[in-house]
Amino acid sequence: MSAFREQSLPGATFVLREAVKRGYSAGDSRWCNLGQGQPQLGSLPGAPDRPSTLRLEESDCGYGPVGGTREMRQAVADHYNRLYRSGLRSQYSADNVAIASGGRPALSRVLHALGAVRLGFQTPDYMSFDALIAQNLGRLLPVAVPTPRLGGFRPEVDELLRVIEADVLDALILSNPCNPTGQLLEGDELSRLVGGAYTRNCTLIIDEFYSHYVYGADGSAADGPVSAARHVEDVNRGAVIIVDGLTKSFRRPGWRLAWIVGPAEMIEKAIVSGTAIDGGPSMLVQRASLEVLNPSRADQETAAIRAVFAQKRNLLLDGLCKIGVRVPSWPRGTFYVWGDLIGLPLSLRDADAFFYAALEEKVITMPGRFFEIDPTKRCMGSGTLTNWMRFSFGPDAECIAEGVGRLARMVTSSR
Ligand SMILES: Cc1ncc(COP(=O)(O)O)c(C=O)c1O
Repeated sequence: MSAFREQSLPGATFVLREAVKRGYSAGDSRWCNLGQGQPQLGSLPGAPDRPSTLRLEESDCGYGPVGGTREMRQAVADHYNRLYRSGLRSQYSADNVAIASGGRPALSRVLHALGAVRLGFQTPDYMSFDALIAQNLGRLLPVAVPTPRLGGFRPEVDELLRVIEADVLDALILSNPCNPTGQLLEGDELSRLVGGAYTRNCTLIIDEFYSHYVYGADGSAADGPVSAARHVEDVNRGAVIIVDGLTKSFRRPGWRLAWIVGPAEMIEKAIVSGTAIDGGPSMLVQRASLEVLNPSRADQETAAIRAVFAQKRNLLLDGLCKIGVRVPSWPRGTFYVWGDLIGLPLSLRDADAFFYAALEEKVITMPGRFFEIDPTKRCMGSGTLTNWMRFSFGPDAECIAEGVGRLARMVTSSR
């Protein structure tokens, strides 16, 4: 007997466990992991060298400030002002930033800091939103905001604003670019969302972990990143809370360094939440991260990412479309392709059936049902995403090409 509760396995754990049962281990080159949420690590053409040493200092051994060191908070504020707020009167300062030990702890702080409010969320969206919202159900009232399936789940700003108003939402959480759909709100659309949420008194919690993985409509690498920070009028008024970090855009998921950017008053509250949740980020990692955000290094890294990942996006899209996976709206962000299996042979249309068949070919994929957000479990089993699959172009190009080749053989042999 155990005092612990039963929990359903998160998607990432589930798919890896099933792969391990069939002989997979991390780094095994016989496998193609198109399920992965980790970007290709190692060297990339055009990217700066990755530092291989770090000197420990005595002060690294002590407790640090829960909200992060002043230097790190200022470095993130400078990063945002440089990338998104040049020429604007209102600028971010260290008080507008809290540092946390990874994206999920950062999101957890934000949700913990919310009051008893009506929180909108879209589905599908980042799978951890489900558990993170569920942890706070004592205070939060979650409200599902539908995204139109017909357009490949591309959010429509007018509809989002209508729902914010009709459902009297106090807050709305969404990832942009969206994991898993790859959909992106930018420019005028993003500006309308930020402005519209403000006038409707709704706090926008925007997860921008893929802010630098953006591509043009023609599949080329975009010129620069996308953030709601560009559209905020006064950084201390209104309520746009941005969560991002080194996990994806700087290809350092293992460093566990993320940030929350928003009005100083709200940041202060998120830091208080962090006192109970995680106790603050590593001093050592923050020191190392200052160098990662050094402007020329940062720009070199993120430009290299966009160039390399745009090519891999096109490689994966091309391969999947050839075998009959339908992609109604091509990804303009992230490193995922969100595909509909409905045009495949009958035996492969169900995402779980496809997933298990692909494992036999040593290819890992991620069934779409894991991105159904349903924190109250009221719609459990609704099964609306049973034909959808997320394919990752996080791995290197060789692995992607091999993976789609194997999937093509699998589809051909089941026709
Ligand atoms: C949309 C999104 N937000 C946040 C995170 C969390 O990042 P971390 O691994 O730093 O907790 C992820 C990771 O996959 C993600 O996809």
